[in-house]
Amino acid sequence: MNQKKIIFSGIKPSGDLHLGNYLGAISQWVELQDKYKCLFCVVNYHAITVRQDPAILKQRTKDIVKIYLASGINSQKANIFLQSDVYEHTELAWILNCTSTRMSDLNLMTQYKDKSKNGENNVSVGLFDYPVLMASDILLYNTDIVPVGDDQVQHVELCRDLAKRFNHDYAPTFKLPEVMIRKQGARIMSLNNPDNKMSKSDDGDSGCIYLNDDLDTVRKKIMKSVTDSGNEVKYDLLEKPAVSNLMTIYHLLTGESYKDIKNTYSGKGYGDFKKGLADVVVKFLGEFQAKLNSISDAQVEKVLESGATCAKVLAEETLKKVKERVGII
Ligand code: TYM
Repeated sequence: MNQKKIIFSGIKPSGDLHLGNYLGAISQWVELQDKYKCLFCVVNYHAITVRQDPAILKQRTKDIVKIYLASGINSQKANIFLQSDVYEHTELAWILNCTSTRMSDLNLMTQYKDKSKNGENNVSVGLFDYPVLMASDILLYNTDIVPVGDDQVQHVELCRDLAKRFNHDYAPTFKLPEVMIRKQGARIMSLNNPDNKMSKSDDGDSGCIYLNDDLDTVRKKIMKSVTDSGNEVKYDLLEKPAVSNLMTIYHLLTGESYKDIKNTYSGKGYGDFKKGLADVVVKFLGEFQAKLNSISDAQVEKVLESGATCAKVLAEETLKKVKERVGII
């Protein structure tokens, strides 16, 4: 019997992926795939909660699979699949909408509040309901652990609440998942403003390093990044939030400790540090993009086909149980 704990996580193809997605989520997944039974999904139904260009959405969905593979996720060890290939996700979301979710739960979600504040009349019901689909993603697979960046913690907590409510109102059905966030890198900030998270919805933002940015652009973005007062390269989130964010990127990409980074740049100032960081990021992205370009569309198709087949077996079993409990024939 396979006793490995189950990991589920996903990324939505609503914009080009950036260093925050890689450092906060994907790189963490790579480390987990040997120890756990992992399911990594491209959650394309989540992407359409805001308007998408259909052709770009299709392309991005496949590109994310390539990014997973180029990052080192091994499709022999982890299950990579599309949300839209396993209809149980949307079906369970409907059931949870009706049985276990209150409007008051969703009204508390800070991501919804942030995303809807600039156009309340234009906000889709899907955007409001987004966390219920996310809960369905997680609960379908008896997930033990959900590795995400810290902006998703509230959604995972809601998922636990919905599972508890369903288990209480019907019968024990869902496992309660735990959230896992990195000690460092759970929230990579914008290079322009250390108060804002690096985000794929900020299209063309010079504070965001996209994984497909050309390397000259990356260097320029880093050299133009904001720093703090003073000139000492030191990790101090309160006094030096911008430099600390840059140091975190450096630390995660090189494995060097904050202390070693500080020592390397001691007496040199921010300019030299940014040059050093630009070298680190350009080296990483150069190698990453080379791997990305070597992955074929045929490879993606193959990975997704077997991924969906395996995921469906688990998802069907859970949905069957849920329908039984609720009385859906
Ligand atoms: P998404 O697509 O916005 O982001 C994908 C992952 O990247 C993390 N992340 C960051 N981490 C560190 N610093 C940042 N600046 C940064 N920006 C994004 C996110 O926390 C996330 O882990 N709702 C999810 C997708 C989803 C999901 C799920 C995740 C749908 N169903 C089930 C886990 C389990 C989302 O929008 O992520």
